Amino acid sequence: MNLIPVGVLGTGRHVPERILTNQDLEKMVDTNDEWIRTRTGMRERRIARPDEAASDLSVPAAQEALKRAGITAADLDLIIVATVTPDMAFPSTACILQEKLGAKKAAAYDLSAACTGFIYGLANASNFIALGTYKYALIVGVEVLSKITDYTDRNTCVLFGDGAGAVVLGAVPEGHGFQSFELGADGAGGELLKLEGGGSRNPSSPASIEQKLHYLYMAGAEVFKFAVRVMGSAAEEALRKAGLTKEDIDLLVPHQANIRIIQSALHRLHVPEEKCMINLDRYGNVGAASIPMALAEAAETGRVKEGDRIVMVGFGAGLTWGASVLVW
Ligand code: COA
Repeated sequence: MNLIPVGVLGTGRHVPERILTNQDLEKMVDTNDEWIRTRTGMRERRIARPDEAASDLSVPAAQEALKRAGITAADLDLIIVATVTPDMAFPSTACILQEKLGAKKAAAYDLSAACTGFIYGLANASNFIALGTYKYALIVGVEVLSKITDYTDRNTCVLFGDGAGAVVLGAVPEGHGFQSFELGADGAGGELLKLEGGGSRNPSSPASIEQKLHYLYMAGAEVFKFAVRVMGSAAEEALRKAGLTKEDIDLLVPHQANIRIIQSALHRLHVPEEKCMINLDRYGNVGAASIPMALAEAAETGRVKEGDRIVMVGFGAGLTWGASVLVW
């Protein structure tokens, strides 16, 4: 069977207006700007309004991606939203977004792979297009992590922010587009990063609120070790599947969890920092939105040109990881 080459036709991103700086956090918990900058690389992050939910952030990002792709919402066959902070448990944020965009003929579903969700979503959608099942797909990575963050816990509250990134996928000329995907999961590490409340194990109740189960929990040091290991290995495996080597990387677009995690991946992959998209200083860790936001910024600011080989790589709760090689 002949597969259709699939690539990115357009990108978009959107963040809430409110900025939460390290100095603001100093007034909220026992922390300081120097600690946050040296341990994480972060300076500020965006925080949604109380009435702003995942679908609200997704709409402008999606509209921008559609515009850049030169298609309309009515052309979309598929919408996938990767998020751990959906508007609500159901209906899916993808269905809410479908309605808001007016994407009448699109199938729509959410995908749960935490911060790796966007890469999982790309792999998912590109298969539909490669097989000819669908022509155009919208993949959105969006998070409103501020709504599940405990702003009395300094171990986590300095790390996370809100935002959305979107791409439109479709057919591209031979030799362009996605060259490989490497996806993985290790459920044994599920305890390291989780939000327990509000599900069927611990439905929301006064007791679940009392135990703070509606906030995300993270064993930071363990996640850090896992991330350092898996970022390099996933990127290497994606390169190997694409028949490429580390030297072929023109731009690395990593999940923006911590500058030290990114630096260790750069070291392992022999990629200099100028060949890496870094925006965590301005946005913090935006979960599933982090890679598409960074990719959109790279596209907008001329960091990528036609034929460039981009490696996207991420990790997250699950535990999950994923990487992809994309020829622009
Ligand atoms: N300000 C000041 N001190 C802080 C702090 C903060 N915001 N957060 C933690 N500390 C303290 C800790 O309490 C600890 O103090 P102690 O030694 O007295 O107990 C000390 O700093 C060191 O903590 P540690 O956890 O060893 O720091 P670290 O160098 O591992 O950095 C993280 C902490 C969270 C930044 C780091 O582990 C990390 O980035 N982990 C991965 C997170 C991640 O990627 N999550 C998302 C996955 S998608």
